[in-house]
Amino acid sequence: MNEAYISGTGSWLPERILTNGDLERMVDTSDAWIIQRTGIKERRIVAEGQATSDLAIGASRRAIEAAGLTPEDMGAIILATITPDTYVPACAVYVQEALGAKNAFAFDLNAACTGFVYATAIGAGMIKSALCRHVLVIGAESLSRIVDYTDRNSCILFGDGAGAAVISPVPEGVGAQGSRIVDSYLRSNGSDADLIQMPAGGSRKPASAETLAAREHFLRLKGKEVFRFATKTLAELLDIAVERNGIGLQDLDLVIPHQVNYRIIESALRRSNLPEEKIYLNLDRFGNTSAASVPIAIDEAVRNGRLRKGNLVLLVAFGAGMTWGYNLIRW
Ligand SMILES: CC(C)(COP(=O)(O)OP(=O)(O)OC[C@H]1O[C@@H](n2cnc3c(N)ncnc32)[C@H](O)[C@@H]1OP(=O)(O)O)[C@@H](O)C(=O)NCCC(=O)NCCS
Repeated sequence: MNEAYISGTGSWLPERILTNGDLERMVDTSDAWIIQRTGIKERRIVAEGQATSDLAIGASRRAIEAAGLTPEDMGAIILATITPDTYVPACAVYVQEALGAKNAFAFDLNAACTGFVYATAIGAGMIKSALCRHVLVIGAESLSRIVDYTDRNSCILFGDGAGAAVISPVPEGVGAQGSRIVDSYLRSNGSDADLIQMPAGGSRKPASAETLAAREHFLRLKGKEVFRFATKTLAELLDIAVERNGIGLQDLDLVIPHQVNYRIIESALRRSNLPEEKIYLNLDRFGNTSAASVPIAIDEAVRNGRLRKGNLVLLVAFGAGMTWGYNLIRW
């Protein structure tokens, strides 16, 4: 069985910035409230005519280049997103076409904010089973297209962007302590499906004049319930990762959590006694970008030197479904 590792990363953010000041002019909110309740100062938003695949293509090109590979080397493309360009066909095929990744099969994965963690685990499994040699995994979102900018409870939270990683077989001769995806843990629970939902537009409630009038094509959140779920789940994931792998929290060099809300992350830190300097945060600049949040943060940490070869890093995420999980990676 081939072990798998991340051979390159990339990210791509749209240029347009939506600040808390901009939101103050759209809904009844304030910069001070948003910063105090979430830690978010600004987020990126796609331009008119731009779509999720445009962001995914930019991030993918950078990841493939960083891996020292070409698009033809990719055997599969997994695009985690809840905001595909179209429902049919999959958003991943637009990325495949633009990259010229003609040897890849391509598909979308919907696990909301846990999407990139799911995709990384599945991509690693595809390498291990020798289904393909290199897998491009992407988290990309244009959440601004499904955010209700009349709902102050949710519109302050989200941003757009994309991050990508190439997963490759560990070269021969690399010892057990070398770069590899060490462990993945994935879970979901459909009994909480109504906590984060877009009610209409699917086969249960197809688009109609009524669903449009009822604003049912936008994301709806039960913020307080999600807050409780997220703080509990983040702390539990840290415990499970440590226990399953026979390590201590002190062995983790970096934890990259889903960039959901500073207060959620801070509360989980307090519960688990993880020092704050071990956590990578960029939510102040990008907000919650769902499936894109973890890979954007990874790529930033790699490029600014915070994540270095040999580091033990834990990616942790949770989101709609509910879904949750982690990847433990020796970088
Ligand atoms: C949404 C969230 C930031 C709200 O923070 P909170 O501290 O729980 O705030 P509350 O919901 O208790 O709201 C407190 C008050 O602020 C108000 N409020 C909500 N949004 C506001 C805003 N943008 N500006 C000003 N006031 C706001 C509420 O109406 C409420 O007023 P009330 O007490 O008069 O009813 C927080 O719950 C959260 O981050 N939840 C998880 C988000 C999520 O679902 N993320 C996606 C999943 S990955």
